[in-house]
Amino acid sequence: MGLSADNNERAVFATKFGAVATTVGSAVGLGNIWRFPYEAGIHGGGAFMICYLAFVFMIGIPLLCAEFCIGRGTRSNIFGAYRKLRPDRNWHFAGYIGILASILILSFYSVVAGWTIEYCLSSLFGQLDFSDTQTGHGQFVNLTTGWRPVIWTFVFLMCNFIILIGGVTKGIERASNILMPLFFILLAAFCINSFTLPGFKEGVTFLFKPDFSKISPSVLLGALGQAFFSLSLGLGCMMTYASYFNKDNRLGKTAVTTAVLDSSVAILAGIVIFPAVFSFGISPEAGPTLVFEVLPYIFSRFPGGAAWSTLFFLLLFLASLTSTVSMSEISITYFCEEKRWSRKKATVVSSAIGAVGGLLCALSFGPLNHLKISGMTFFDMFDYLSSNICLPIGGMICSIFTGWLINKRFVKDELTDNGKHRFRLLSLLLFFLRWICPAAIFLIFLNSIGII
Ligand code: PHE
Repeated sequence: MGLSADNNERAVFATKFGAVATTVGSAVGLGNIWRFPYEAGIHGGGAFMICYLAFVFMIGIPLLCAEFCIGRGTRSNIFGAYRKLRPDRNWHFAGYIGILASILILSFYSVVAGWTIEYCLSSLFGQLDFSDTQTGHGQFVNLTTGWRPVIWTFVFLMCNFIILIGGVTKGIERASNILMPLFFILLAAFCINSFTLPGFKEGVTFLFKPDFSKISPSVLLGALGQAFFSLSLGLGCMMTYASYFNKDNRLGKTAVTTAVLDSSVAILAGIVIFPAVFSFGISPEAGPTLVFEVLPYIFSRFPGGAAWSTLFFLLLFLASLTSTVSMSEISITYFCEEKRWSRKKATVVSSAIGAVGGLLCALSFGPLNHLKISGMTFFDMFDYLSSNICLPIGGMICSIFTGWLINKRFVKDELTDNGKHRFRLLSLLLFFLRWICPAAIFLIFLNSIGII
């Protein structure tokens, strides 16, 4: 197809390790540490977990392969990629869904990332109370209602802006190489601590023992949305990153590595959070505030709790940055490549839009708390619309497109690096992309609106 030739004008990741670390950096973030435990908590624990893992492996990995093939093969943003492969049709419209989703996500994500800054600094300056097990909720309310979160949301967006303006390969790659392994080690250490908690058994049972009677349409939709959100799928983010991959990157392997590492971090986070939830008598159904209310209790058990807390929130903040950088790249590459804007202008405009959305979401826990659309605040609405609607639709389009519309040879050449190595599961992958992924997403949608 001639599209996969290297185009020297575009950046490429300097090393293979760096490319994988950056991709994992996009996937691992608040989605694993904050969103997974709270979604699992409200959706019954084990029942949610089993659906989530099934979707990661049945839908997530095939779609990662598809986004990687399209991205690296075309070396374009999501619009250009669809257009290069099928100029005759309007498939590139999927790009608008991607951009919308990325803006919605950036808006609420920055608020939660802002909380991590607040918690990090409060721990550092000794303002977080680790002594009294009754204060978790109170502290959260204190720190996150009112106008203060707006400042931290903007501080976070500013950090995101600074990294983005520096270009793609240098900043992100260097940071991810160090941060991701460090984050993993810290999480594993906290996980070991969980074994010593009185609620360990209860917490682990809640998380891993599926009660199949609890699988409802909302659990299925929630788990599907979480799989997409956590793997940064369905909005062209992985496609854009893959457009910076080198030729020697083995796409199938990178897809499996990303999915396995990403779900491992989510499971580790679950093992850290739920034993503590049951030990300290907190409701697993607390929702978006769950993790921030529980973590201080965990740190209080460690000698030097404030130092641990500072380090943890610092790393979580940095992990969030590697994710927001990746979602911002979607609109930035669109403006640069489709609208021919300078990178600076594109970055300023994307960040400004994110700031407006961020403002609405940051105020959702305080002054705008009463403003609800279908019972949801802006924060909840942005989260629901992006994760549960836009991402699965974007994913369905990508899977139909790769499975049915592009040349099989193109997919094969990308996965095997033009026949240099083998990819034995090509037929299985195509079968999933053609049938399983679109059908599963479609059925879950029908199910959630009550049609089946
Ligand atoms: N996957 C990221 C996380 O788990 C969030 C994200 C979603 C990043 C979509 C990019 C695109 O935190």
